[in-house]
This record gives sequence, structure tokens and C-alpha cells, in this order.
Amino acid sequence: MQLYRLIYYSQPFGYDQPMLNGILVDARNYNPTNNITGALICREDIFLQLLEGPKEKILLTYSKILSDDRHLNVKLLVETACESRIFPDWDMKDDPAKSWFWNREQIKSGILETISEKEVINIFEKIAQSH
Ligand SMILES: Cc1cc2nc3c(=O)[nH]c(=O)nc-3n(C[C@H](O)[C@H](O)[C@H](O)COP(=O)(O)O)c2cc1C
Repeated sequence: MQLYRLIYYSQPFGYDQPMLNGILVDARNYNPTNNITGALICREDIFLQLLEGPKEKILLTYSKILSDDRHLNVKLLVETACESRIFPDWDMKDDPAKSWFWNREQIKSGILETISEKEVINIFEKIAQSH
């Protein structure tokens, strides 16, 4: 099996707690069967998601996510084979986007358009270490 990592960000559409719960229910329902793990950083102005698992399952799930109407403007940041998982024990961890990443003004002005692969992977590694 080739282990694959994919990270994207998007703009939530109609964000509230029930909507977020619905996404997490979907993720925690499908991901175990697909051997996918990961984390979703979420706030009303940003989704940033890491998915790890078998390449073909990751690509299939990402194609569903792309056409999901609960968010807009999905932008791929990282797509690569990898050696190990950052979140081996999480079907999909949710993490409220904390202001120490970026504040709303930074998100609005497009800070994620210039983030490097290394920086974004670092963020997920920090979250994994803090739990
Ligand atoms: C931000 C976001 C993250 C999502 N994460 C996952 C996920 O990790 N795994 C998953 O199977 N579906 C995820 N979904 C839901 C999919 O888009 C889709 O609704 C779900 O896989 C069911 O698709 P189906 O009914 O076509 O089988 C996510 C959706 C959004 C908007």
C-alpha cells in the first residue's frame, strides 16, 4: 500500500456547529473503512484538512470533498507520498483554528496562498504533539 498525504484549505459555507458535526459524522463514518486518518482545523472562516491513507482512497475521498456544498474555493496545498501518518489514531480529529495560527484578517487577506508545504505540515505536527 502506498501511503499518501493530502492537505487543502477551503472557505466554509453555512458554518455552524450542526454543519460541522455533520461533516465530522461523515468523516468518522467513512474514514475507518477507507483506512484514512487525519485532522480538520475549523473555524467559520477556514477549513484546513489533512488526509492520510491509501492513495486511491485519498483521491476518491478528495473528489467527493471537492464537490461538497458545505464549503467553497477548495485549494490543494500538499499532495505527496509519505512514510508515516501524523495522526495514526484519529479517524478525523477536529481542531478549532486557534488565533496563534492566523487571525481572521490574515485569512481574509490570503495568507494561505503563500504558505509553504513545510509550514503547513508543521502546523499539523504541532497539533498532533499537543494531544
Ligand atoms: C470540510 C469537509 C471535510 C470532509 N472530510 C471528509 C472526510 O475526511 N472523509 C469523508 O469520507 N468525507 C468527508 N467529507 C464529506 C464528503 O464531502 C462526502 O459528503 C462524504 O464522503 C459522503 O459522500 P457520498 O455520500 O457521496 O458517499 C468532508 C466534507 C467537508 C465539507
